[in-house]
Amino acid sequence: MNIKNIFVTGASGKIGRALLPELVSCGYRVRALEFEDPVECEGVEIMEGDIRDPSLARKALLDMDAVIHLANCKENRELFLETNIHGTFYLLDEAKNCGHIKQFIQAGSDARAGIFFYPHPYPIDETYPHSAYPGYYAFSKVLEEVMCEQYMIQYKLPITILRFSWVMDEDDFLCHITLKEPDFGVPVWRELARTPEQKEYFEKGIDAVAKLVHPGGKPGIRHIVGIEDVVQSILLAVGNASSIGHAFTIAGPSPFSYEFAAEYVAKKLNLPVLEFEYDKFYDFTHNIAKARSILGYNPQYDIVKIIDSAIEFRNAGKKRHPTKYIG
Ligand SMILES: NC(=O)c1ccc[n+]([C@@H]2O[C@H](COP(=O)([O-])OP(=O)(O)OC[C@H]3O[C@@H](n4cnc5c(N)ncnc54)[C@H](O)[C@@H]3O)[C@@H](O)[C@H]2O)c1
Repeated sequence: MNIKNIFVTGASGKIGRALLPELVSCGYRVRALEFEDPVECEGVEIMEGDIRDPSLARKALLDMDAVIHLANCKENRELFLETNIHGTFYLLDEAKNCGHIKQFIQAGSDARAGIFFYPHPYPIDETYPHSAYPGYYAFSKVLEEVMCEQYMIQYKLPITILRFSWVMDEDDFLCHITLKEPDFGVPVWRELARTPEQKEYFEKGIDAVAKLVHPGGKPGIRHIVGIEDVVQSILLAVGNASSIGHAFTIAGPSPFSYEFAAEYVAKKLNLPVLEFEYDKFYDFTHNIAKARSILGYNPQYDIVKIIDSAIEFRNAGKKRHPTKYIG
């Protein structure tokens, strides 16, 4: 499959801004959709626009071979139908109508499989049924995928779906696991504070590292992914004929335990560990065997590397992109 020209939506977002320079250095001609926030990447053609605009897709896809669709409004009841559903539909339909799109890469999510909100009888893989967790974001990730599946079935549109786990960039993981603001991700520790000791940390603004445990004390297990591995998976999928018609689970090399992560961060940052019991957390792991075997995906960022690079980010005095959506 010969792909030279790629239209990328969500170019200023977390994944987009890490992906664009890599696409450019691989030699692709990139047209990046800019919406609200500036797209900062040399060597890309910027196109301003809104995916809710039904006339955008025709102009955007005119001379393109592929689409990498990352734009999404996340958890927003007022916007999700127009942005995530209509926006994805306009792009899929134009990709079908124009007849020259060789690959449409859709950003999927493990939100479609419910992550820690439901019990999982086996590691989440590509055969795992759609079972979005509560809210509009996860619901929209299922609907986007169902639209993609129908465009593959009805029109043989060459689609690849990459289902990313929770993506860690910058110092995301430290923001998640420590009590200090900004809060990042769920569960939100201050909402789980029940004992006077736990409440005191928040009242007095004392920092600590959260260790999530089930009732009875067993630490929670979850599976996330580093931004570098996400970018790797997209680059491996672009132009890969074997990826067409498939969904792939994209997660880190292994799951992590909140016990190990909390103790490791506590040691590195010289902070105490504070336990939070949560009876609504179900352990989950991802099975990435399909991505490994078909894409050659070889993730490098386990929890130690994710934590180490978050600490390096802070030590270098870098400023975090503002968190628009907590998850
Ligand atoms: N970040 C994660 O942890 C994660 C995990 C799994 C899947 N994903 C999926 O990956 C994709 C990218 O995620 P991200 O974290 O980079 O998102 P992000 O929230 O950081 O960025 C979203 C992007 O979409 C753009 N956008 C929003 N509304 C738009 C509109 N109306 N028109 C045009 N552009 C619009 C924004 O400008 C931004 O560039 C999304 O589909 C998301 O569901 C992300």
